[in-house]
Amino acid sequence: MDLSDVKVISLPKVLDERGNLSFIEANNHFPFDINRVYWIYDVPGGEIRGGHAYSTLTECIVCLSGSFDLILHDGNESKTISLNRSYNAVIVPSKIWKHMENFSTNSLALILADQEYKESDYIRNFEEYQNMQNQKL
Ligand code: TYD
Repeated sequence: MDLSDVKVISLPKVLDERGNLSFIEANNHFPFDINRVYWIYDVPGGEIRGGHAYSTLTECIVCLSGSFDLILHDGNESKTISLNRSYNAVIVPSKIWKHMENFSTNSLALILADQEYKESDYIRNFEEYQNMQNQKL
């Protein structure tokens, strides 16, 4: 996988004077089955979350509230996606290194994953990750 496999998708928006609504349908918006949902919140200023890749897991990241930056790396180049709209979703496939930073006060990151939590799927050492990516080239 490389950065070209990362997709930003625009979720449906139902604009309404009473407040807007967006939604995710498991079988319509993602190229994977949702098996876990988790969220990151109450992030103190200056903190960084993530800082790993997954061997096989694909996930989708939505900024439900506030803003943060998603930094992606494929072992070769990096890319920053600033998220501040709750109707944008980023699909991050396996074997992409990622971290999140620059969280605003009260920001809320929602993550949908195609697998349950499994520590053995994590690649937490960047050098190991880069070697793995470069061996494939
Ligand atoms: P981790 O994925 O390392 O956090 P980050 O998003 O910063 O990379 O997870 C932090 C801790 O939370 C780790 O000890 C495992 C636990 N955890 C679960 O138990 N279930 C989950 O679904 C997730 C994402 C983490």
